[in-house]
Amino acid sequence: MKHWTLARRMGPAVSLSTKLPVRALAGPQAALTDGFHIFDFTFIMLTSLDVFILRQFSSLSKTTAMRYRYCCTVAHREPRYYQHLRHPTSLLFLIPLILLLLLQYLFRLLHPRLLGSPPSPPRLPIIGHLHLLTAVPHQSLYRLSLRLGPIFSLCLGSVPCIVASSAAAAREFLKVHDTSFSNRPITKAVSILTYGSSNFSFAPYGDFWRFTKRLYMLELFSNRTLDQFRPIRQDELRQLLEELHARAKEGAAVDVGAAMTRMTNNVTSRMAVSRRCSGTDGEAEEARRLVMETTELLGKFNLSDYVWFCKNLDLQGYAKRLKDLHKRFDGLIERIMNDKEENRRRKKMENNEEVLKEKDLLDILMDISEDRCAEDIFTGGTDNTSLTVQWAMAELINNPLSMEKAKAELFKVVGNGRVVDETDVPKLPYLKSIVMETLRLHPPTPLIPRESHEDCKVDGFNIPAKTRLFINVWAIGRDPKHWPSSDKFMPERFLSDEVDNGGVGVDIRGQHFQLIPFGSGRRGCPALTAALLVVHSALAALIQCFEWKVAGGGDEVDMNEAPGLTLQRATPLLCVPVVRSDGPLYDRAPSAEVL
Ligand code: HEM
Repeated sequence: MKHWTLARRMGPAVSLSTKLPVRALAGPQAALTDGFHIFDFTFIMLTSLDVFILRQFSSLSKTTAMRYRYCCTVAHREPRYYQHLRHPTSLLFLIPLILLLLLQYLFRLLHPRLLGSPPSPPRLPIIGHLHLLTAVPHQSLYRLSLRLGPIFSLCLGSVPCIVASSAAAAREFLKVHDTSFSNRPITKAVSILTYGSSNFSFAPYGDFWRFTKRLYMLELFSNRTLDQFRPIRQDELRQLLEELHARAKEGAAVDVGAAMTRMTNNVTSRMAVSRRCSGTDGEAEEARRLVMETTELLGKFNLSDYVWFCKNLDLQGYAKRLKDLHKRFDGLIERIMNDKEENRRRKKMENNEEVLKEKDLLDILMDISEDRCAEDIFTGGTDNTSLTVQWAMAELINNPLSMEKAKAELFKVVGNGRVVDETDVPKLPYLKSIVMETLRLHPPTPLIPRESHEDCKVDGFNIPAKTRLFINVWAIGRDPKHWPSSDKFMPERFLSDEVDNGGVGVDIRGQHFQLIPFGSGRRGCPALTAALLVVHSALAALIQCFEWKVAGGGDEVDMNEAPGLTLQRATPLLCVPVVRSDGPLYDRAPSAEVL
């Protein structure tokens, strides 16, 4: 008799043709026949359990019990006979099994809370939660926060991380527990490029950092120093406008991003080391390329930072590129420093008071024998400044009504007799709200990276030392709890005489946690004022002097973000500038003398 037939007929008296005494099966077998339909999957699992049970309740040998199992399994392969299989132990085990699975699920869900850890999704061995990150990490983290709440934890490879995605959560980390989270994570890129985090941006919170922070605030970014550098900023703006006028005359398209990056790099480099970064000088061009490469590599996701067995491997080839970049950067800084030493010696010998008074940032740093920050000034944020202007222009092109309002404000306050100047900005509230709205929707650093240096308890969660923290500024700026119609570009939300959409009275300097594009607390951006001066004046001049047409036709520009840790545009912003017929006559603009 076939096994499946046996199985089909299984009942209290069936011997299973194994010559097994009916007696021996009576106990368990009786229990096996009380009529329940078994589903395919359950059946297989339960037959294995049955084998176990059979052996517990009877004196069957393992081989005999296995034969019984085989019999059932054969029957299982014949779907026609499923319904004939009657198996009460199924229920006996089915219920505890379901309960077990349910308990396991609940435990997974609740156990982080029971242990005092933030919620976390199920993770995979070795890679942890790395598979949950997409090419645009702040967006995937935002989606996770909708499921897991404003504070959740992840394990990226073997690195424990916390993600904060609401204003209240950011306040907890950056204000209440600022001291515990005032370090930055040291990735491979940082370590190679900065001699093991010896510069300001990545230095651990301690004496060196405190000393340099004081220096930055009192010397480099003080109002006095910023005033001293105003002619440099004006001159670079003038050169940008000249370049755009030339392109407008040709009717040629301009890559707004590239033009802005050239300008901000030149401003920074002239302020830092009295040299331009673009122009005919090959060395200057090299400096520009190095800065771009540095920002690019610092923003890359390197596997060896997260997966322990990749620690010493360079699967993506980044370590090789980083070492080469570091060597070239070092060479350049050394050449600049040598020239600077030579210049300083000459100036001292000439003993010319006026010339001696003209100092750039490197002079200031060298006066106090501190040159480790030169790289900070080069790489720190020139990209951010240019990105802000690019996204603002893109939003204005796609929102012509806002462009018109900004233009009307500029013509009302400045007129068309001269080009707008930094000193006009306090009288241009709509322009300022455009910048705030741009930074809300497109913060250049969408994920602020910090690291805890001690165990602490935040919002009831235990967070161990050395946990990486990401403040998702991008998600916070889109939180509908603070920002009604959060996806819409509405500069008006910041103006009290227009409809309030969450923005009235909100400041961008790190006190209102629903808008923190410059971070907050001890490690907030020290160059905020300097950066805003350039962003406001450049954007105002681009609006006042030109109309902007989308290159290749069409009314709108693409607003997608490129992969990476900084908020680059997916496609370059290519536009044709058209000189405004009612705009300032550039050649006779009074401010051109100043510019
Ligand atoms: C629109 C332009 C800029 C934006 C949106 C921006 C944003 C930021 C953010 C979010 C941080 C981290 C803050 C935190 O951890 O809480 C930061 C830090 C920093 N930024 Fe900026 N930044 C800009 C321009 C600049 C410029 C122009 C420079 C220098 C020339 C600069 C230099 C720095 C430095 C040195 C730090 C590190 C501070 C520290 O670790 O203590 N930034 N910036």
